[in-house]
Amino acid sequence: MKVAISSDHGGNRLRKEIMDLLDELNIEYEDFGPTSDDSVDYPDYALPVAEGVASGKFDRGILICGTGIGMSIAANKVKGVRCALVHDVYSAKMTRCHNDSNVLAMGERVIGPGLAREIVKTWLNTDFEGGRHERRINKIAEIEG
Ligand code: RB5
Repeated sequence: MKVAISSDHGGNRLRKEIMDLLDELNIEYEDFGPTSDDSVDYPDYALPVAEGVASGKFDRGILICGTGIGMSIAANKVKGVRCALVHDVYSAKMTRCHNDSNVLAMGERVIGPGLAREIVKTWLNTDFEGGRHERRINKIAEIEG
């Protein structure tokens, strides 16, 4: 599995925590920054991750900002991306089982690093169930055109 990850300034600390986790899990990833704590615009950092996943270069993407909201809105504008904003372990599991989400968004100002680590582990390790859920995500793709 290859993961793309980025944040804005509001998500820098949690992004580093999650990269440490990916290292511990021996999961390959590419870090799309930012490289400093300067204030940046989250769409600029959501886009390369979302496009990388949509193109197939990466299997999954992880996006972090203050709330996760801006990142998730931006990522979901890219065709083929199903970005889930998740702040609990149950939703992390269900969004994989039912939505086949390929990008995960979280807010550093919303949850702590311990919970974020559990969310990422669950989200990376849960498979899509397919079946009736496949029909539903196909309908989302039809909306995209
Ligand atoms: C930045 O202050 C903040 O707006 C951003 O990190 C994010 O929470 C936006 O949705």
